[in-house]
Amino acid sequence: MNKVQNNKKNKTSIIKNKKLITFKIPATSANIGSCFDSVGLALDLYNEIHIYSNENSKKIEFEIIGEGENEISKDDNMILDAMKLVYKKLKSKPDKGYTIKCINRIPLSRGLGSSSAAIIGGLLSANYILGNKLSIDYDILNMSVQLEGHPDNVSPAILGGIISGVVIKDEDFKYVKINPSKNLKAIVAIPNFHLSTEVARNALPKEINFKDAIFNISRAALLTSALSSNRFDLLEVATDDKLHQDYRAKFIHGLKDLFKQTKNAGAYSVTISGAGSSILSLVKNDEEIIKKVSNAMKESLAKKKINTEIMVLNIPSKGIIIK
Ligand code: HSE
Repeated sequence: MNKVQNNKKNKTSIIKNKKLITFKIPATSANIGSCFDSVGLALDLYNEIHIYSNENSKKIEFEIIGEGENEISKDDNMILDAMKLVYKKLKSKPDKGYTIKCINRIPLSRGLGSSSAAIIGGLLSANYILGNKLSIDYDILNMSVQLEGHPDNVSPAILGGIISGVVIKDEDFKYVKINPSKNLKAIVAIPNFHLSTEVARNALPKEINFKDAIFNISRAALLTSALSSNRFDLLEVATDDKLHQDYRAKFIHGLKDLFKQTKNAGAYSVTISGAGSSILSLVKNDEEIIKKVSNAMKESLAKKKINTEIMVLNIPSKGIIIK
């Protein structure tokens, strides 16, 4: 085949493999200290899913770029598993081939909702391919909460903002959305090691004592009220917890000192993000404070020889973005 013919062929395949839709799914940070398994927030760090028609195949093919590109299987992954649940629910299957291109920015197994993003991405993709029969803010939300198992991790990615919610068996997810203040910034310290949610959950006790339950309930109530009324001065007390962070501290060396240094540098609050290994601090949207807190977080972890990436993020009021 000569060069001209070759170019013609490439051009034809580009036209046939047309981009159909893009989903942008934000990272999340769950728990925020006292609100274990019940409150989470969205972060403006997005995984992107681009769906292309694929005339050359009858299957769903994956292209993965960025976080996990060498670890995530293209034949068996969380996106595909979630897609299969939509096929089952709608009793239908794609009758054409598609390419799903994932641009991953949310680090894996760091407590920033990468699994939630994959689950939501799979549900949205299959729903799109099968004709958008499911609603996003009800069907996809409830399916993703069931699938992920931790509503605090998955719901803010769909709904945006700060979500306080509860799952009751055989009922819909009940939640309230708190709109984030522009005066609040999130600083996330992402250590260079993975921590699986399963391992972090296995470190928790089977039972807790009454005093610890009251300790958390009172702070959790204060936290949601403080966030809704922009009483950021209360966040330090309101994020305190006795249900999970002390038990998980053994996975993040120097956690106590990190918390102390971060608060001393001016953060409103500092907590383990989700099940870890990342750390979330909420701070005033002030350049000087952001710089001081970022440095304190990085230096505290460096003292324990943990290399850390620092990201300064917003809490977007919108969840998934569809283009
Ligand atoms: N709330 C959950 C936990 C989030 O901390 O275990 C992880 O998905």
